[in-house]
Formats: sequence, structure tokens, C-alpha cells
Amino acid sequence: MSVLSGKKILLGVTAGIAAYKTAFLVRLFIKAGAQVKVIMTPAAKEFVTPLTLSTLSKNEVVSSFTKEEDHGNQWNNHVELGLWADYMIIAPATANTLSKMAGGHSDNFLMATYLSAKCPVFFAPAMDLDMYKHPSTKENFAKLISFGNVMIPATSGELASGLTGEGRMAEPEDIVAFIEDHLIKDLPLYNKKVLITAGPTYEAIDPVRFIGNHSSGKMGFELAAAAHDAGADVILISGPTHLEKPRERIKLVRVQSAREMFEAATKAFPEVDIAIASAAVSDYRPKISADQKIKKTGETMQLELVKNPDILAALGEAKKDQLLVGFALETENEEENAAGKLKRKNLDFIVLNSLNDKGAGFKSNTNKIKILFRNGAGKNFDLKTKKEVAADILNEIIILSNA
Ligand code: PMT
Repeated sequence: MSVLSGKKILLGVTAGIAAYKTAFLVRLFIKAGAQVKVIMTPAAKEFVTPLTLSTLSKNEVVSSFTKEEDHGNQWNNHVELGLWADYMIIAPATANTLSKMAGGHSDNFLMATYLSAKCPVFFAPAMDLDMYKHPSTKENFAKLISFGNVMIPATSGELASGLTGEGRMAEPEDIVAFIEDHLIKDLPLYNKKVLITAGPTYEAIDPVRFIGNHSSGKMGFELAAAAHDAGADVILISGPTHLEKPRERIKLVRVQSAREMFEAATKAFPEVDIAIASAAVSDYRPKISADQKIKKTGETMQLELVKNPDILAALGEAKKDQLLVGFALETENEEENAAGKLKRKNLDFIVLNSLNDKGAGFKSNTNKIKILFRNGAGKNFDLKTKKEVAADILNEIIILSNA
């Protein structure tokens, strides 16, 4: 999922030949999951039609202070549009518009909205090479950057004049990638690596049967999505589940048994900043896993079990600067048991969920948790969706990693 998903983008189109490319730009923003509204300068309408951009953005395109269809009797509210936007992007930004932005001139609807907008502003210049090089243009770039606006540099290539040089507006794909990269850097877990274990483990009895549990992986997969959306590089190590990778950029390692999960988690752990163990790991496995299907013979059958490695305890032992979070799924003496695991496994905090709480634990889309911290403090949360629970847990991690 793109960082632009769910964001409101105000696209300002000015009068350069590159305006025709804004049709693609609007499509890419919509594909990334953003809502788009377009403002055009009156002259920009010569280069691309408002009909094209309103059809693609599924919103009315505004280019003047009054609504023409109401014979100019109704006002277009630039302040409202400026406040609506999460991000404003001016592309193409002509030399003329850049100069007005730098000088604070409010002689058209786009400029009035630019001056009213409180959100981050990006601008993608487009002009001929000598205009791009001109000292006054360079001064305007520097001034706008000093205002906190973000420049998406033009590229070199053939220009509308027939000359070749710097001044071509960045391609729509590159504009979107530039903005996404820029926004990712502002996310709270940017540059952090997060390891998450999820799902059950299956411990083979024979080629057909196994010891497992009811974990669906939902809690762990929501945690992975939330960590990814907070800007982290995520490695998700999951036992058997039908769930798909929640985000393209997440590295998903699928395992079967506790020992496989142990191998993968202990290998990844030295490289990560944060680890969250939400997997329901089988504590025991059959001592012998039969090569062939075990035949039904006697009235009873005995299985000898041996202990599996405790993955989280091993991470707790290896822990250096990492922030380590565990889960405790309890059915009795919940807090006491969870507090014991918090200490024994050397965790920063533990997320307690109890099967005594309706809607908590395995399989459901909801969970109810209490977080217990090392200093003995606790925080209760209401019954929420696992997506919201994941956001709550990530929030505590972000607070601790900034402390
Ligand atoms: O997958 P879902 O259907 O969404 O369900 C989510 C969940 C109920 C599985 C999840 O919220 C949860 O509680 N996960 C931990 C379940 C569990 O095994 O708890 P535990 O109390 O037995 O283990 C304590 C901690 O040690 C856990 O972080 C566990 O991952 C870890 N552990 C346990 C045993 C072991 N051999 N290795 C481990 O790493």
C-alpha cells in the first residue's frame, strides 16, 4: 500500500505543455489510493481540458473564484480547499507561477489556494532550459524551498522549444515515487527494521497429522501492516496460514514448525531494531515424526513429546539495543503469568490477551489487550478490531523508541 493511500491531494496545474501529463499523474494518485482535486490556472485549460481531469479525478475542476454554471453568483472557497488537502502538488509549475508563489501574488484561484494551504507543498518545475537556469528562477526555487516547499527537480531532455536541456517536468511515475519517498522519511519508524512472528506452528506426527493450534495469523499480519505503514522495513515470519502478504514491501518468510520459526527468527534478529512475537508457538513436538502414515492398530496410542525451543526467550537472551515485545495468551491468573513471561523473556513490554474475554484471542477480527511494562505499569484497552489493536501496540513501540 502506498503512503498516499487515503490522502487528499490538491493538484495545481499551470500553463505549460507538460500539463498534458497531469492526466497520467491524476491516474497514478488515484491508483495509489489518494483522493484528488484539481485546480487549473485559466491558461492551463489550453493545454489539457478540465473535463479530462475531472473525469479522472472524479471531482469538479476549479479554475476561478466563481462558479461559471451559476453565472458567477456562487463563490469557490479557496480557504476550504487549502484546508481540505493533506498535500498540495503544483505540476507543472511554470516560471511565472513559481515567481508568483515566491512573491506571494494572489491573482488567480490557484495562487489564493496556495497561500491559504497549511499542508506540505510540492512543486515540479517545467520550462525551457534558459528559463530554468535564469538567476531569478533559481532565486525563486531557493525562496520556495526556504518556505518549506519541496522541489521535484526537472530533468534533462528534449523540450517543447525543440532545444535539449534541463527543464522537462519529471515524469508522472517519478513525481509519485519522489513524493512517496519523501513522505516515508517523515514516518515514525522510517529506517527501522521490524521482525514479527505470526500464526501457529505445526509439529508433524507423521506425513498427514500434526500438533497445532487455532491461531489464524490475523493479529501478526495486522501488526506487520501497521509497522510497514509506520515506515518500517518489515520481516514477517509466519507459521501456516491462508493469509496473503498484507503489503508488497513486507518480506514474508513462511515456516511450518517451531524449530523452523526459531531458525528464521534468530537469524534475522541481530539485524532488526524491533521484534514482536505474536506467534502461537507449539511448546512441544512429537519426539519422533514418523516417515509413513501411522496405522490404526491398538485402542490407545502414546505420543512422546519433547520441548521446542522458546524463540522469544532466545531473542531476549540475544537482545542488545532491540526493543522486544511479546504476547501472552492466558486462561487463568492472567496478569501474574504475563508478568512472569515479561521478566523471564527479558521483554520491554508484553501484550496480554485472555481467552476469558469475549472477542479476544484466536481467529476473530477483534482482540482485547492489556499491555504490561517492565516498570510494573499497565495499560488496558477496549475490545477493538485487530487492525486497531495493532495500531495501539505500534503506538506504544513508537513512544518507547523515541524515549
Ligand atoms: O493469530 P490470531 O488468530 O489472530 O490470534 C492471535 C493470538 C491469540 C495467537 C495472539 O494474540 C497471541 O496471543 N499470541 C501469543 C500466543 C502464545 O503462544 O502465547 P504464550 O503465552 O504461549 O507465549 C508467550 C510468548 O512467547 C509469545 O510471544 C509467543 O510468541 C512466545 N513463544 C512461546 C513459545 C515458544 N516456544 N516460543 C515463543 O516465541
